[in-house]
Amino acid sequence: MDKIDVNELLEAQAHVWNHIFSFMNSMSLKCAVDLGIPDIIQNHGKPITVTELVAALPTLNPTKACNIYRLMRILVHSCFFARQKLSHGVQEDGYVLTNASRLLLKDNPLSVTPFLKVMLDPILTNPWDFLGTWFQNNDCTPFDTAHGKTFWDYAGHDPKLGNFFNEGMASDARLVSSVLIDKYKGSFEELDSLVDVGGGTGTVRKAIAHAFPHLNCTVLDLPHVVAGLQDSGNLKYVGGDMFEDVPVADAVLLKSILHDWNDDECLKILKQCKEAISKQHKGVMIKKKVMIIDMVVMDNEKVNEEISKSLETQLFLDMLMMVVLTGRERREEEWARLFCEAGFNDYKIIPILDIRSLIEVYP
Ligand SMILES: C[S@@+](CC[C@H](N)C(=O)[O-])C[C@H]1O[C@@H](n2cnc3c(N)ncnc32)[C@H](O)[C@@H]1O
Repeated sequence: MDKIDVNELLEAQAHVWNHIFSFMNSMSLKCAVDLGIPDIIQNHGKPITVTELVAALPTLNPTKACNIYRLMRILVHSCFFARQKLSHGVQEDGYVLTNASRLLLKDNPLSVTPFLKVMLDPILTNPWDFLGTWFQNNDCTPFDTAHGKTFWDYAGHDPKLGNFFNEGMASDARLVSSVLIDKYKGSFEELDSLVDVGGGTGTVRKAIAHAFPHLNCTVLDLPHVVAGLQDSGNLKYVGGDMFEDVPVADAVLLKSILHDWNDDECLKILKQCKEAISKQHKGVMIKKKVMIIDMVVMDNEKVNEEISKSLETQLFLDMLMMVVLTGRERREEEWARLFCEAGFNDYKIIPILDIRSLIEVYP
């Protein structure tokens, strides 16, 4: 082998190794959250040395204390923490939070910790071991192969997963609704009523109802999800099935719903939504639209280095939808085909949510 071949060979091996071990980024992050490290750093109020961090971890086995800096080193590398010089004359650096780890603080109203916890729970990570088997069997999803039932059946019968999942989705919903209200006020101001289909425990709806008190907001979700949730003021919960019926409203919101389902299932949901917004409301023709919050997968050919990480995240989510549910992330052409087949006339993609977009669809 000449020199170039050897270099290429080593580069190829490094690439393979990086991918063999890249799950360690997720697991190291989960460990830091389990140990409460972001909150310890926040509560310390200034850069924290590794000695101070070790002392602040109450349940740490002292024989493992010497390994904490190794955990911190990989998390500094993955930009969850940064190192900062302590005051003048002190040799040691201290750890500080970054924007990413601030999103993991318990008291941050926009915390993504519940989402991290459910996504990295073994109930959702075990099915990945069955991906190869699933390609060769008749099961609907690798989740079914691993657990013997669909994700929705599991979540309906196991309160731990059900609550965990609802909390995880609610934490994402808090962040997304704050962006929506901030950047896309106008879209809600013109409405009198909105139904949040598959709205979970109502986080988006609560934020929207609070920001737009004139708007009558309804959440439709499965009966066990909305059981015991109280209606109040302009807020209402309905237990039902979006494949069967969607309450009448000016607009329907579908946040993180359609990517859960295959094309045939999406068509059924979209047709129910179209019917809901097409009905007369209080004798007046209402303004009509379906508002979808989901990804529009980028075109591989147009992706440069700067946005290739965003495409990778979109592809991760697409794989997640394949492993856990029957859904997929869609490119613009795939969305357009669905809208057309469901009988809609037009749509607009509003890319205001980084890797996700708001897609408005008009009858
Ligand atoms: C991925 S979660 C999204 C929750 C919420 N829209 C959000 O983004 O925070 C999907 C939601 O769809 C609900 N769901 C599943 N099947 C449903 C059905 N047949 N009818 C109504 N809701 C359903 C689930 O209970 C869950 O709350």
